[in-house]
Amino acid sequence: MNFQDPLFWRAGAVSTTLVMLIVLAFLSVDSMRYIEAGGINVPKYDVINHAIGYEYEWSRSADVPVIGAEEPLFGKKVTEQEAEQIMHKGKLVIQSRNCMNCHTIFGNGAYYGPDLTKSWLDPAWTQIWMPATGKATKEEAMVEFLMHPDKYPSWQRRMPNLKITEEEARATVAYLKWISSIDTNGFPFGFGRMAP
Ligand code: HEC
Repeated sequence: MNFQDPLFWRAGAVSTTLVMLIVLAFLSVDSMRYIEAGGINVPKYDVINHAIGYEYEWSRSADVPVIGAEEPLFGKKVTEQEAEQIMHKGKLVIQSRNCMNCHTIFGNGAYYGPDLTKSWLDPAWTQIWMPATGKATKEEAMVEFLMHPDKYPSWQRRMPNLKITEEEARATVAYLKWISSIDTNGFPFGFGRMAP
């Protein structure tokens, strides 16, 4: 082996790059098993037909979503395909209004407003917004809040009215319910149990 020969170093660089490309491809495919809807950490979209809880699991030292009994969103069971269309709409609402300019989802975004990753599980919906909006269910209270956040402030910082239609608000609530069911290794820590 001649360490003075540039060809030696070139061959080394090329082979290392090739091996790392294979490792990268493997890791990308492997990550998809965890992060796609229906993957290991992410329930399918029709999880919105079920109750979702959040319980501390001692063996993992983290809060973990618990998918419970049937509890369809807005009392209407949806098929997997319908759920997918609703999620698509909900995601577009969140992108079009740039909610991430004020909120965080999965650690991405801003902290002017509360973290939305587990917002569906926020005790404030039943404790503050159901009485404030006079709605009988959590999801209806969420729709009313999203359409008129300026009418129901609960905090010193206010959310502006973003002219969200009822259909858009319902899709956004479905989206928020679905993301709350995703196993995020306990992020955000102590949600719903600790003061923000
Ligand atoms: C200009 C900043 C801003 C934007 C943009 C914004 N929000 Fe908010 N949002 C807030 C603030 C501030 C609050 C807290 C309001 C309160 O408690 O009175 C809030 C509260 C919320 C809550 C209640 C969260 C909880 O668990 O307490 C939800 C849900 C929500 N926003 C969703 C959205 C969605 C969805 C969008 C985009 C369609 C959006 N927000 C855009 C500032 C914003």
